[in-house]
Amino acid sequence: MLNLLILLFLFLVLLTIWLNIRHHDVKWKEHRISIDDFRFPKGFLWGAATSAHQVEGDCRNNDWSRWEKSFDSEARPRIKNSDTAGMAADHWNRYKEDLRLLRELGCNSYRFSVEWSKLMPRPGVWEQSAADHYIETCMTMRDTGIEPNLTLHHFTLPQWLAERGGFEHPDSVRYFADFTEKTAETLGPYVDLWATFNEPVVYALMGWVRGVWPPGKRDPNLAARVLANLLKAHQRAYRILHKTVRTDADGDGVPCKVGIVKNISIFDPARKWWLPDWLTTLTLDRLYNHALLDAFRTEQFRFNLFNTVRFRKDLPGLADTLDWIGVNYYTQYLTRFDLKSELKIRLEPKKKLPRTDMDWAVYPAGLYRALKIVRVFGVPIYITENGIATQDDQLRKRFILQHIEAVHEAILDKIDVRGYYYWSLMDNFEWAEGFEKRFGLYYVDYQTQERTLKNGAQIYGDIIKNSQTIDE
Ligand code: FCB
Repeated sequence: MLNLLILLFLFLVLLTIWLNIRHHDVKWKEHRISIDDFRFPKGFLWGAATSAHQVEGDCRNNDWSRWEKSFDSEARPRIKNSDTAGMAADHWNRYKEDLRLLRELGCNSYRFSVEWSKLMPRPGVWEQSAADHYIETCMTMRDTGIEPNLTLHHFTLPQWLAERGGFEHPDSVRYFADFTEKTAETLGPYVDLWATFNEPVVYALMGWVRGVWPPGKRDPNLAARVLANLLKAHQRAYRILHKTVRTDADGDGVPCKVGIVKNISIFDPARKWWLPDWLTTLTLDRLYNHALLDAFRTEQFRFNLFNTVRFRKDLPGLADTLDWIGVNYYTQYLTRFDLKSELKIRLEPKKKLPRTDMDWAVYPAGLYRALKIVRVFGVPIYITENGIATQDDQLRKRFILQHIEAVHEAILDKIDVRGYYYWSLMDNFEWAEGFEKRFGLYYVDYQTQERTLKNGAQIYGDIIKNSQTIDE
């Protein structure tokens, strides 16, 4: 018996050592290179990102506009300070100025999304004036040397579709296919880079597990069903886009490249020598980072959380529907096994690291680790979002510099990164956080809608202008 206990103890020690070795931190000598030495691949896309509901203004006909005016079960407003997106950053009317500001920084690409509820205000109705607006936006980009990178779904749904159950309902796949086809017919001549969905896991987590975004449910089983429908919709959209988009707008020989945008967060154990913390770390890493992406290799979506959720769906044909992957990276969480909390898991930022106004730890090495996670798919990677909400210009400057340094390290290590988009071009409506959190490169005065480049953002332009091309 004693021997058995000793053996078990030794096994656990070895397992912990193995886990620590396998999931080691990455480190490089900070600022080993000055920005003048930065070298990026030829054709690297430098950009900034936005999403329709957060910047355009006047989105009155989607699920978020309803949600912003509703209250939770304890009669509290859904959005911090009772904000509503309203006119947001009035990007709908100011897009020309905004694209000029983007160009002034030296950027050559813009990641944006189209608002489904404006293009299809009612089922089966295509609103040509909204379509014309997006055509003009894309033409302005093409005329000024900005490569459009278009996201079809960035968290919002037309109200009519939300009323029909949104992505909980299998019909959503058909509705999304229809929307994709019409958008592809309209914008295909200008757009080569397409993303179907922005952050499916965040969308499902906030709307169906935490219940702090519409539809405000707390049912992990439904969240799994939503994710499976999103994957099906992605697959349909992938084929439709390739069939419909025939113009090679950027002249690289391929008319359209379709990807999905995945948020990656880095999870590490709060106590590296405590196996239960490893258990929570690995569980979260699996559910949050890997479950959805793995379906693109196995053609099966599995989503299991202890004994709360057991979900499995075969998705034949899903493999080979990724021409690229978008990575949104913001932070690292330390995870702690905690018997007192509902899901037995507690997340916290590492104490030693600087914090953003979102209370997220600033951890640039995490971007390198995120890129390593997705490199296994063997497709080009774009960093579709990375940014900081802060009032502290020095911190913003350091954040940008250190994260681009991490991208540079990844490229030196032969990870196929093709572009970087800062989130966000200008301050905007940050979902449940309202307008308080300011991620923008440009400060927005919401009274006058005046934009001003933030001091801490200047470095981004300097990096772009100084960066050289890797010799082939
Ligand atoms: C991402 C979202 C984006 C923005 C940033 C801060 O999860 O895609 O819309 O809210 O976070």
